[in-house]
Amino acid sequence: MSLPSVVPAPASLEQATGAPFRLSATTRIEGETDAAASLAALVTARTGLEVEGGGASTITLAIEPGGAAESYSLTADEASVVVTGADAAGLFYGVQTLGQLLTRDDDAWIVPAVTVEDSPRFAYRGVMLDVARHFHSVETVKGYIDRAAGLKFNALHLHLADDQGWRLQLHSRPKLTELASGTAVGGDPGGFYTKADYAEIIAHAASRHMIVVPEIDMPGHTHAVGLAYPELVEEPVLSDHIIEIARDYGGDLPEAGKPYDGMAVGFSSLKIHDEATYDFVADVFGELAGMTPGPYLHLGGDEALGTAPEDFALFVSRATEIIADLGKTPVAWHEAGAAPDLTEATVGQYWGFVTPTDGMDVKAREFVRNGGQLILSPADAIYLDMKYPTGPDLGLTWANGPTSVEDAYSWEPSAIIRGIDDTDILGVEAPMWSETIRTASDIDTMAFPRIAAAAEAGWSPATGASDLRTWESFRTRVGALGPLWTSLGIGFHPTGEIPWVTE
Ligand code: ACM
Repeated sequence: MSLPSVVPAPASLEQATGAPFRLSATTRIEGETDAAASLAALVTARTGLEVEGGGASTITLAIEPGGAAESYSLTADEASVVVTGADAAGLFYGVQTLGQLLTRDDDAWIVPAVTVEDSPRFAYRGVMLDVARHFHSVETVKGYIDRAAGLKFNALHLHLADDQGWRLQLHSRPKLTELASGTAVGGDPGGFYTKADYAEIIAHAASRHMIVVPEIDMPGHTHAVGLAYPELVEEPVLSDHIIEIARDYGGDLPEAGKPYDGMAVGFSSLKIHDEATYDFVADVFGELAGMTPGPYLHLGGDEALGTAPEDFALFVSRATEIIADLGKTPVAWHEAGAAPDLTEATVGQYWGFVTPTDGMDVKAREFVRNGGQLILSPADAIYLDMKYPTGPDLGLTWANGPTSVEDAYSWEPSAIIRGIDDTDILGVEAPMWSETIRTASDIDTMAFPRIAAAAEAGWSPATGASDLRTWESFRTRVGALGPLWTSLGIGFHPTGEIPWVTE
């Protein structure tokens, strides 16, 4: 019999010889109330059973401090299931594992007799959603939080501003949403989150043990800022690249003061030598710091092709300092590693390829030299908006062509940037850019199943350190999750790379 399927692969999973635990409507769930409510909801979604107690079989959910952060253990035998978390997050992850272990056995529901001991490899396991190229509603974002939390992700990075729109209300700069939020790529409608919406997203994320990492991309990707505060931005730089993109993908060239709904990047810049720019940066991140309980504020810093390199360096050193002075840890895309005066301990987010090109790894390494850590988002593996080799007509292909599930899986975090080790890696994040992604169903089909590969890179033991960390094991385990995902309403892409189990 094959091992029970858990994704991301746990640190240790041992199958016992005894009879399985049988779950029924009379099973009693006892212990921590939040975890009990999460489990009851998961059981109902998966099985249709409303568990009410009254029988002899018991599931016990407990917190016993002392273990590693976010760790848990789970023991199932014929009489009981016991899940113990080192903290509330660990217990929540144990509940997610239990949800995956619940299997149909003819007319019954069982949990195989197992012992799981589990803790994450990396502290930061993120997903990113670009709500700027296409706006996504609070409901969609909450749904994505639920989906990601089920795979033990603990951070939602929201890309809140780009050339095509500004998506967060700020009282310090009200014109951003009044004048720059109404449009999106392809002439689609825009939108924005009120401060109450943002608070609702943060509270929902917290209930799933996730932080929110807000990104305001600067000094490039700022065309929308110019719709609201034209005095802060330079004229669009119409390079050959911009003209080529406009030709290949259609759409107009960017024009100062007019909404941009195309897909080109790298034409906009804040004014670097004007103090009004830094007043703006201070207002935006100052207000954001007050609205965001998590420790990170992301200032973008990618693809600033319309900004001279020395100006870029000056800007990111000042912007990271503004964020650090607010008591938050700045995060920037890897290009910012080129700045000699980057604020100490800034976190770098690497978005180059699994095999680095063009010195991107050199820039990433600079964050580590500067006392910071790295978040790894290799674009040709875990950019979830890349097209599948066969599948829906969604997504882009610039990251080394289409990305299969096997491509998404077949990389090892410690092997990308030479000269760094696990202590230099804060974690792993799977971004979803939204040039072609318009609906919740688009998000589902592009994320699932590839998001599970990112989850495993972030949570599970290193490649080679566990028998479970192989493509063959992964594809079998993911296939076993098909019925659970379906019962949770997740419209995954039923790619032929995965041996999907059906019930
Ligand atoms: C990026 O993909 N421009 C971070």
